[in-house]
Amino acid sequence: MSKVLAIFGATGQQGGSVLNHVLSDPELFREYKLRAITRDVNSEEARKLKTRNVEVVEGDILSPTSLATSLIGVHTVFAMTTPSLGPDAFEVELANAKRIADVAVDQGAEYIIWSTLPSVRNISKGKYTAVVPFDTKAAAEEYIRTLPIKSAFLSFGSFMENYQSQPFLFPTKADDGTYVVSRHISPQAKFPLLDAVDDAGKFAGAILADPTKFEGKRLHCATKLYTITEIVTLLSKSSGKTIVYKQVSVEEFKASLPFFQDVFAEGFSLYDEYGYFGPGTEELVAEGAAVARGRLTTFEEYLERNPFQLP
Ligand SMILES: NC(=O)c1ccc[n+]([C@@H]2O[C@H](COP(=O)([O-])OP(=O)(O)OC[C@H]3O[C@@H](n4cnc5c(N)ncnc54)[C@H](OP(=O)(O)O)[C@@H]3O)[C@@H](O)[C@H]2O)c1
Repeated sequence: MSKVLAIFGATGQQGGSVLNHVLSDPELFREYKLRAITRDVNSEEARKLKTRNVEVVEGDILSPTSLATSLIGVHTVFAMTTPSLGPDAFEVELANAKRIADVAVDQGAEYIIWSTLPSVRNISKGKYTAVVPFDTKAAAEEYIRTLPIKSAFLSFGSFMENYQSQPFLFPTKADDGTYVVSRHISPQAKFPLLDAVDDAGKFAGAILADPTKFEGKRLHCATKLYTITEIVTLLSKSSGKTIVYKQVSVEEFKASLPFFQDVFAEGFSLYDEYGYFGPGTEELVAEGAAVARGRLTTFEEYLERNPFQLP
């Protein structure tokens, strides 16, 4: 009998990628019965999933009762959380993560695949404490490792999709009609880029195909590292406009952002000074890419499919 795989975030980028990967992989599709968890089973995305052999079940991470119902009979859980805002952002997101994991254990799930991130606070030895969306996921990983459930962890790199979906980080127009990407980090700072929509599922797929091999392991998930200069050059080529990189002061960078100023400033500083995944980032990315179940998308290929458009 196939094992029920419950996917949180199935209507979003990374969860959707996990779901699509299993649907497209005959071996995994035979082994797992897909269950998409969503707050709204009647949303457009949820209705599309129902037409694709996917059980769509209502579940809200904020409600233990709703979670318990959504995880009845589950074997494996792919779980993720979204960042919270406000002064208690760390506590709120961590509580959400713990709630999913606790309910999964209570419901007798055997395996959880958790979407984690590195602890910026630990890697920087307390220098950077504002990157809460990373630190919470790392704390959740630590918690899940103490629970009576098998677990494996996916630490995703920086999404290629960000360049289309985060307009507040877009290049700005200079007086001469060219465009500038301004950050406080060195032109050589490296980003491990991941096509979240097409490729996140290839890492989850590796674990789903051989859960025993990956039990207790963390995969660092990206195609490869690109310097900010290389990224800007590729965006420029894709858009057909001149876009250049300019290193500015951290104050100037923060002043350009409408929110999450410290999160982005300290996050980018991490990549520059310590590496996105900390020491050995380059090797960790190469190791992760080597086990992904399928060929990973380069940023060049991503931009061919999704040309970069300036507003
Ligand atoms: N952007 C990056 O470069 C990057 C890199 C690494 C990690 N991350 C992390 O990735 C996460 C975002 O992932 P994504 O881009 O895949 O998300 P997304 O596309 O924005 O989708 C969010 C998903 O979360 C689900 N969700 C939200 N609140 C929920 C709740 N209360 N109960 C149940 N489901 C809920 C939504 O489902 P419904 O709406 O259907 O309920 C939706 O499927 C963030 O935590 C971020 O820190 C981002």
